[in-house]
Amino acid sequence: MPKLSVDQLEVKNRRVLVRVDFNVPLEGGRVADDTRIMATIPTIETLINKQARIVLLSHLGRPKGKAVPELSLEPVARKLAELLDRPVGFCPQVSGPEVRKAVQELVPGGILLLENVRFHPGEEKNDPELSREFAGLGEVFVFDAFGTAHRAHSSTEGAPRLFSQVACGKLMATELEFLEKIRNKPGRPLVAVLGGAKVSDKIGIITNLLEKSDTVLIGGAMAYTFLHAMGRKTGASLVEKDSVALARELLEKAPLLGKTLLTPLDHRVAPAMDSNQVQVCDVDIPDGMIGLDIGPVTEMAYSNSLRRAKTVLWNGPMGMFEKSEFRSGTFAIARTLADSRAVSIVGGGDSAAALNMAGLSKKISHVCTGGGASLEYLEGRELPGIKVLTEV
Ligand code: 3PG
Repeated sequence: MPKLSVDQLEVKNRRVLVRVDFNVPLEGGRVADDTRIMATIPTIETLINKQARIVLLSHLGRPKGKAVPELSLEPVARKLAELLDRPVGFCPQVSGPEVRKAVQELVPGGILLLENVRFHPGEEKNDPELSREFAGLGEVFVFDAFGTAHRAHSSTEGAPRLFSQVACGKLMATELEFLEKIRNKPGRPLVAVLGGAKVSDKIGIITNLLEKSDTVLIGGAMAYTFLHAMGRKTGASLVEKDSVALARELLEKAPLLGKTLLTPLDHRVAPAMDSNQVQVCDVDIPDGMIGLDIGPVTEMAYSNSLRRAKTVLWNGPMGMFEKSEFRSGTFAIARTLADSRAVSIVGGGDSAAALNMAGLSKKISHVCTGGGASLEYLEGRELPGIKVLTEV
């Protein structure tokens, strides 16, 4: 069903409550990566042009219901003002009379960002009282926080449910359009590249993608759990013992489904994470060595598979790319996608950061702003933040 769009709203002079996802990395009190802020600009500008009075809600990090000064959204308000080249008010509270006063004082086209909603203990509990308070701040709700659409919290589910109109923001609409392509009718072959540390975080999606994709390429630390399940030596690499049985099950299931599930053929290893003594070894990792990136043969094998793909979904780096010694595998995937004609969709903060680092983000069909949200969506789950959108 099509959703009500922010473009369709009549909001001149009206208070519009907008849930955005400004969960961005901060360094030394400054925004270190503004990708998620930039992504909300089209929705905010649409509302400015419509002369709405704009109230922005977001979380940042996981402060667990307490005010944590290092997780304040104040630096984000400054960054947003810089990007929009116009003033952005910041209210250092989440609820209460100070918030209501600041909202009342908003002028048409004016913008106010409230403090981190997770400073309030009610937010993650989806507390009805907090939801009512949020709802009282606006006349219309716009949901543009795709990255948080899988959370049923006060600002993402409780509050929007109290509005008669919940419109889909522009970022949200773009995200859904691309993910829908993979979920419904992907161009084939569809190759999924999965990396990152934990198999347990991605169990659902690996199982689901094995059914949907033609090939699944496994890299990153989760690969060592698969290799352990295959009876290979993993040295001192991270192996998630609780997930070994599941990894084995997936390895057995793949050929029965007629799918290819590839694991690394070689690795870049070191005796410690902070060591510069990098070696390349074959599939078995020697005792005492930690696998920290896929090796050159695997890079080639994975790149060949990606070159044949019509659709690629990439989630999670191939190694500890933050260190230059272990970046090669992740950058090889990034370069192959950048040069390919396949529809490429990249999800997850780390893969997006690696693309930015490689300067290749613009060459990817779509870089998703939501890691967990995109995975849950692709698993076929109904996300609370999508469920609340008004159908038209
Ligand atoms: C994210 O970064 O994936 C979203 O902002 C959600 O954050 P959370 O996992 O802390 O709910």
